[in-house]
Amino acid sequence: MKFPIGVLVSGRGSNLEAILSHIKEGKLDAEVVAVISDREDAKALKVAENYGVDTYYIPCLEKKTVLVGEAEKKYIELFKEKGVKLIVLAGFMRIIKKDFLDAFKGRIMNIHPALLPSFKGLEGQKQALEYGAKVSGCTVHFVNEGIDVGPIILQEVVPVHDNDSVDSLSQRILMHEHEIYSKAIQLFVEGRLKVEGRRVKVLSGEVKKE
Ligand code: GRF
Repeated sequence: MKFPIGVLVSGRGSNLEAILSHIKEGKLDAEVVAVISDREDAKALKVAENYGVDTYYIPCLEKKTVLVGEAEKKYIELFKEKGVKLIVLAGFMRIIKKDFLDAFKGRIMNIHPALLPSFKGLEGQKQALEYGAKVSGCTVHFVNEGIDVGPIILQEVVPVHDNDSVDSLSQRILMHEHEIYSKAIQLFVEGRLKVEGRRVKVLSGEVKKE
């Protein structure tokens, strides 16, 4: 069986699509066994269905910006049932809290559209543009109890052009997101990510299958 991953989404699903397409092309040695969305209208659900992946819409009624309560329990149960070994956040718009983090310790990744630790939180691309940064980029990191502060796995630098709009910069960054997310997942699948405090070292060669 291929390495089972679970994906959390809330929106468009372009990162999910890139992951599924890399799997199809044999560039990523994993299988997406479940996609959960907290929003019924997330396009990402359609993306997953088109690839024949099981999808679940599980609303979180208690809060708007965090995953808590009954929904959190259901998410954990479902991913456990499916034997998920890595959780990938792909445009999931809620903060992950302790119970979920404990259930999948060291096994949750996120992608952020800026070079962390700069421009954390929402609209990283707009923040970079408004700040006047000459370069920005994207970051794949492990998720911990803070927001966008978990150990950094991979980053890619993207130039900011004088005539950029938020849309044009976001588009340029997104192209790189689609590449580095799968690379980071593949490194995890190959057991090549070693976390030492804040630092994530990439071990050379294939070490162990998770
Ligand atoms: C991406 O910009 C990602 O960096 C951020 O949310 C956005 C999700 O886009 N975390 P998509 O749903 O993958 O198209």
